[in-house]
Amino acid sequence: MAGSLLHSFATSFSSCSSSSSSRLLLSHSPPSLFLTSFRRSAAVAAPGVRFSRVLSSSSSSSSSSRSPLCYRRGQRRLMAHSIARATLGLTQPNAVDVPKIAFAAKEINAVEWKGDLLAVGVTEKDMAKDESSKFGNSLLKKLDSQLGGLLSEASSEEDFTGKAGQSMVLRLPGLSSKRIGLIGLGQSSSTTFAFRGFGEAFAAAAKSTQANSAAVTLATTDSISNDSKLSTASAIASGTVLGLYEDTRYKSEGKKPVLKSVDFIGLGSGAEIEKKLKYAEDVSTAVIFGKELVNSPANVLTPAVLAEEASKIASTYSDVFTATILDAKKCEELKMGSYLGVAAASANPPHFIHLCYKPSSGPVKTKLALVGKGLTFDRFFDSTTMSEKVVFYVSSGGYNIKTGAGCSIELMKFDMGGSAAVLGAAKAIGQVKPPGVEVHFIVAACENMISGTGMRPGDVVTASNGKTIEVNNTDAEGRLTLADALVYACNQGVEKIIDLATLTGACVVALGPSIAGVFTPSDDLAKEVFTAAEASGEKLWRMPLEESYWDNMKSGVADMVNTGGRQGGAITAALFLKQFVDEKVQWMHIDMAGPVWNDKKRAATGFGIGTLVEWVLLNSSS
Ligand code: BES
Ligand code: MN
Ligand code: ZN
Repeated sequence: MAGSLLHSFATSFSSCSSSSSSRLLLSHSPPSLFLTSFRRSAAVAAPGVRFSRVLSSSSSSSSSSRSPLCYRRGQRRLMAHSIARATLGLTQPNAVDVPKIAFAAKEINAVEWKGDLLAVGVTEKDMAKDESSKFGNSLLKKLDSQLGGLLSEASSEEDFTGKAGQSMVLRLPGLSSKRIGLIGLGQSSSTTFAFRGFGEAFAAAAKSTQANSAAVTLATTDSISNDSKLSTASAIASGTVLGLYEDTRYKSEGKKPVLKSVDFIGLGSGAEIEKKLKYAEDVSTAVIFGKELVNSPANVLTPAVLAEEASKIASTYSDVFTATILDAKKCEELKMGSYLGVAAASANPPHFIHLCYKPSSGPVKTKLALVGKGLTFDRFFDSTTMSEKVVFYVSSGGYNIKTGAGCSIELMKFDMGGSAAVLGAAKAIGQVKPPGVEVHFIVAACENMISGTGMRPGDVVTASNGKTIEVNNTDAEGRLTLADALVYACNQGVEKIIDLATLTGACVVALGPSIAGVFTPSDDLAKEVFTAAEASGEKLWRMPLEESYWDNMKSGVADMVNTGGRQGGAITAALFLKQFVDEKVQWMHIDMAGPVWNDKKRAATGFGIGTLVEWVLLNSSS
């Protein structure tokens, strides 16, 4: 039986949670999803029956996969998405190795470096030339003279001035490196964000020239402090790993990256920088894992599969992690009526995920929780907040289904971006193992679908803290799932909570596609998180938690409604979440509906992971 197979795989971890919840209940008997007397219909129960049949016909459940969500063809894993496999197109991700690059930090003369590609980061100032068209910068001058003046000539001809995003790669005789690349850093380059972009441009150059071995240096390194050398190298390393990576798991033919080694020249050498590069690699690997979770389509990445990915993190780092997965029945016992209301329409059952990180030795001085919205699919996309297009109300059941031009419902697989950030952070934390800090990773995973068992607009649900909610919009489902997840997080006895969610289109309208909105009553927590975001190079902007807007959230029948209208939609959403957080807990909500996805690249960004890991480290005693 499915439940027992997954159960035996997972019960090897012991729980460190202080809650009354029992562990890893993955039984798949048709759950009753409402806390009232409703029963799920036979139609909904049917896939559950098929589920156990499909699973029991397979052979083994313990084959481990090398990289996240990668299952070798022909060697089927027993996964909950067997239902999807049987009915929704037989899709399985290919096993694709995450590129493994050997980073090394060296103090050698860049001009003498031997290999395929030597890339030099140059600012516009570095590119300045004198009257006789010669470089002023000493490294560029040296390289140019080795090349008989061809470097300065070519850069003039190609109009390369060092602007951010510009790059120029030349294949010239006369150097010990096969090719030389100049990559623009812009006017002056001081931010992590800029160096990550530089790393990405470097990766692109290495890719297009099929380089096996490459080196990076900066035209000007002597003016950089030791500390910034470390963070510069680490930002370039992450940019390189992420720039090389391409998610081809769902393509029938993938490309193999060839870059094997990268030497960092002029940014220091020794244990400290090697450690920093290892950290960059660990976080980048976790970011790739997060991207893969988000990129995965909803027919593959069901709530059960998300839960299994979480369990895999716990088993990989079993010295520091424990996993608790609650099924619908257990959530019902915990009275999570708000979360279960959202899950009620779906044939894929909800899975409440709780990972707990505890260092294997030493005292714990701070307890933290990271909570992520985990909607593996949100059937709606509220085009009204994005544009002025017509709203169609269809279906006799009265569900508000919105559609219109600019509707990107196919992208709503990314509605679990918050949970990907949380689980990605968990993976990195398992690797880095910070001391002195306990971290709870919590995701109330489910789908937002339509069926006869789903919520109607106007239904009243009761969250696990006893508060009642009139659901005036079934599309504002993320906050309903987060309500119970936040109550659960507070019950773990944590001091600080950050939740991340692709919560509102309103936040995208306010801040655009690349900046996340931050809501918190705590200036101290804001300070910590902005410090972390600066180190990770992610863009956050603090928004107001305007209490007077709570007026819009009043209900005639219940304690509150779940939607407060179009104006200030990201703020009223945050005010809603605040109702489910203990006042003594420092709490922050991050609305990442914009930055979760890169439209141009048609891919997930892995947003949030870098900042969360930095924040946990800030709170550790390392
Ligand atoms: N997942 C959406 C929010 C979203 C919108 C994410 C656009 C990414 C891009 C969320 O569940 C939702 O539907 N929110 C509604 C709330 C509204 C009904 C108050 C929205 O923002 O339109
Ligand atoms: Mn929605
Ligand atoms: Zn949503």
